[in-house]
Amino acid sequence: IKKIGVFTSGGDSPGMNAAVRSVVRTCAFHNIECVGIYQGYEGIMNGDFEVLGARSVKGIINKGGTILKSARSKEFRTKEGRKKAHDQLVKAGIDALVAIGGDGTFTGAMIFNEEFGFPVMGIPGTIDNDIFGTTHTLGFDTALNTVVEAIDKIRDTASSHNRLFFIEVMGRDVGHIALNVGIAGGAEEILIPEEDLGLDRLVESLNKSRTSGKSSSIVIVAEGDKIGKNIFELKDFVDENMEGYDVRVSVLGHMQRGGSPSCFDRVLASRMGVKAVESLMEGKTNYMVGLKNNKMELTPLNQAIKGKSKINLELLRVSDIMST
Ligand code: F6P
Repeated sequence: IKKIGVFTSGGDSPGMNAAVRSVVRTCAFHNIECVGIYQGYEGIMNGDFEVLGARSVKGIINKGGTILKSARSKEFRTKEGRKKAHDQLVKAGIDALVAIGGDGTFTGAMIFNEEFGFPVMGIPGTIDNDIFGTTHTLGFDTALNTVVEAIDKIRDTASSHNRLFFIEVMGRDVGHIALNVGIAGGAEEILIPEEDLGLDRLVESLNKSRTSGKSSSIVIVAEGDKIGKNIFELKDFVDENMEGYDVRVSVLGHMQRGGSPSCFDRVLASRMGVKAVESLMEGKTNYMVGLKNNKMELTPLNQAIKGKSKINLELLRVSDIMST
């Protein structure tokens, strides 16, 4: 391997810059040329490349977002688009890719590898933590801390005004953020896609909270939860069916994806970058690097995508007990 291209794709997440820095510096350490590719797969097809040396990535370990920008590409999903991308890489002399992103990013990388035999290595970057083969994706820890801080602030108002707050957090298909921040933020109830609590259970749980002496409540709702009502409909439901609640809704949105990465995410990103480059040097391809039992491990991309990380049932139980 003489020249490695690195790009970020899909939703940004804190820690992506730290991973880019790590890939670039590991390449420099091993005398491999490193090329930054802008705008994800779009940038590969358009040849939007820039050679990056160790000093090019100074001052970015603490920055949220991604200096390489990110995009979702429709054209790369076509055979013609991928051919165009391959031609650009060959022209630039790039002989391996490090793809930083989530399942969409990895699906593209895997298909590209299968079609052209092009060496690829994935680094999982998404706040949702919905990738199999790693206990943590890049940005998950930072997002948890961001959300907990927001919940703490909302709790001030909830308790001052004896209110019930429904707080929506990200997680299109999974409840990892919701479950963790629900426990850390002392939520009375957590609604996640993996477990359909049902409206009756929610009503029962709110009533129980109140009779146990609580004057305010916080319910964390994962974006993808399956209770069948969106967060505003949940408020209407409580307003119409339950006596004496002063209900408010707070949708946290994209503030959850931004901000300076936590120490954990910076260290994880640095480790993942080293492992990704050194694995490519060893001739490994079509894998994702991940954290398992505090070790860097490789998982085949197809498993990383299909496996879907499972909710920790113990956490569910802890959250139930904590809301007593
Ligand atoms: O990065 C994943 C995610 O945060 C999901 O939880 C959310 O549904 C989605 O991104 C929203 O992304 P966008 O606004 O880029 O479409």
